Amino acid sequence: MHPFVNTAVRAARKAGETIVRGLTRFEGVETATKGLNDYVTNIDRAAEAEIIDILHTAYPHHAFLAEESGASGNADTTWIIDPLDGTTNFMHGFPQFAVSIACQVRDVIEHAVIYDPMRQEIFTASRGGGAYLESRRLRVSKQRTLEGSLIGTGFPYRENLHYLDPYMAMLRTVMTTAAGVRRPGAAALDLAYVAAGRTDGFFEIGLKAWDTAAGTLMVREAGGLVGTLDGGDYRQNGNIIAGNPRVYMALVEAFAPHLPADLREAALEQTAREVAARAQAALKSAEAADDAG
Ligand code: IPD
Ligand code: CA
Ligand code: CA
Repeated sequence: MHPFVNTAVRAARKAGETIVRGLTRFEGVETATKGLNDYVTNIDRAAEAEIIDILHTAYPHHAFLAEESGASGNADTTWIIDPLDGTTNFMHGFPQFAVSIACQVRDVIEHAVIYDPMRQEIFTASRGGGAYLESRRLRVSKQRTLEGSLIGTGFPYRENLHYLDPYMAMLRTVMTTAAGVRRPGAAALDLAYVAAGRTDGFFEIGLKAWDTAAGTLMVREAGGLVGTLDGGDYRQNGNIIAGNPRVYMALVEAFAPHLPADLREAALEQTAREVAARAQAALKSAEAADDAG
């Protein structure tokens, strides 16, 4: 395991302990809604401070982009941190949330750690080195079609509510085709589950870099594809499809008729030829995965 991953795992476990402790105490103050929100915010902040403290002590020259404290430092290497992904779940004692830590060097995500403190599952990945759940190598699922698949998603809200109509059209297509749709409520884990083959694909509008930085590397290292909603290059802009190569391509095709102009990001940046080349590479990689058993 790369030393960066080791340190990030240590930080994620420490934050996870704080989160689980917070969950236990939270059950005693369930009616104090305002206090409750503050309390959860304190847990978010405490977990983030612990992560940054451990990483900063080990790597004093690295920079940080963290959900609660924002950007700090100026270096080629940046740690992108969501200390508690799934805060709404946490606030309700719904046990689906995670710590997400990614290490980015210049523009490339090199390492990723996602920790589910309730199940004590540690997902790790390093670019070119594969994705793991503990010591088990992860592979995306072998599901060949959208029919029969299990798809994860997240609902648009707040500043993304204006995408509700196109989102509902996309959801409708998936609901009427796939075997099932899940909205678990922690995007980092949603991506880790695609990597682990627990779901076949995932899509969401309006995520942030700290939601997806670790998960996107995890999916890619497990043999999956990550792109924008129209199949373009994903650059942590938050509008995302991830999946095994075949389900990914099926989602790109299924969503194409429903995307408003501002979600056609590939069309803005890429020629049709590039999009076609990407599709071909996706299918080749699916066939290679099938051949490998
Ligand atoms: C949220 C979760 C959720 C997603 C939201 C995110 P947070 O993160 O990942 O699944 O739908 O868009 O903001 O706020 O709980 O860290
Ligand atoms: Ca989040
Ligand atoms: Ca968060």
